[in-house]
Amino acid sequence: MTTDIDDLDTQLAALDRGHSLPARWYTDPALLPLEDERIFRKAWAYVGPLAELAEVGSYVTGMAGTVPVAVVRNARGLAGFVNVCRHRRHEVLSGRGKAAMLQCPYHAWTYDLEGALKRAPRVGPASGLRLEELSLLPIRVEALGPFVFVNLDADAPALHDCYGPVLERIARSGVALDTLQLHGREDWQARANWKAMLENYLECYHCPVAHPGFSVAIDVRPDVYELAVHGWFSSQAGPVRPAALDGSGGKAPPYDVRGAVRESQYHFLWPNLTININPGFPNLSIDVWRPDGPNAARGFSEQYFAPGVAADFARDLVAFNRQVALEDDRLTDSVQRGLIAGLPERGRFVADSEPLVIHFQRMVARALAGKPPL
Ligand SMILES: [Fe+2]
Repeated sequence: MTTDIDDLDTQLAALDRGHSLPARWYTDPALLPLEDERIFRKAWAYVGPLAELAEVGSYVTGMAGTVPVAVVRNARGLAGFVNVCRHRRHEVLSGRGKAAMLQCPYHAWTYDLEGALKRAPRVGPASGLRLEELSLLPIRVEALGPFVFVNLDADAPALHDCYGPVLERIARSGVALDTLQLHGREDWQARANWKAMLENYLECYHCPVAHPGFSVAIDVRPDVYELAVHGWFSSQAGPVRPAALDGSGGKAPPYDVRGAVRESQYHFLWPNLTININPGFPNLSIDVWRPDGPNAARGFSEQYFAPGVAADFARDLVAFNRQVALEDDRLTDSVQRGLIAGLPERGRFVADSEPLVIHFQRMVARALAGKPPL
């Protein structure tokens, strides 16, 4: 198994010829610990919005690969921790909320907002334990606009150095990031490898075929639909169709696309975060895509709107996003069955329509070989 992962030159040469990564990379359980160690434990992991960390004591929890993580606001700012108790390794915090102290629910070991262990029941001088040596393990935490990320790798490049320019591109859409309000958050599960799902996200070659409603709202023709690789992130943008704005197209758009935002934007931030903006009233949604075994994925979605969103618009846009996700899930469920078959071993790319997928596979191949992904 490890042979073809270590043979980076062969994989990159195959990608240069338009041949995709081997099917086995999407189905073999042996890949999971490698992806965890070489991709997710070295990358920035989105955990939640800064607005939920406004007050001292507020916290959010999340995952960086297989590692539970937490971000807490203390008197000095944001602090990130491995969200695992130093005692028996129960998770200390769950969900999102506010607390004066961080208390593990297993044996009530209690840490302050700086992560220092302050109390541990029955632990006295005879125990040999020194509380000052048992702080929560600290990790890096940084914010990108209103979004908070953590990184387990002390050597990883700064968050802004990776993704900073995506903020300017989002601003171009008419969405003002600092005004956005969280409308809803939900967890999801799917029956395909996380990479197959993201590769589907990274091209719109399938949009006219598989997303009829989407394609009424957004101009997906290759001469106007923008595909741009930027390194750590990549971007797609498609203008709203004029016929969807003025109702002249014959087919009604799936929701009211009229509003300040005139283009869709779909950003992918390595390795597993996507940010979506759709035409209409200012909106933004986020998805985090995580492996759940080799043949399944799980993640969460957050939907944001500018203040004052109409209830009807919010409902219709959420329904639109769900419909597109349902259509995509059917596609990637089928792709996963093909990948499990292992035949053909490699797919073939249409290079000018799928440059973002090829770029993603290059990053996967480099990272899994133990190299920097770029
Ligand atoms: Fe799609």
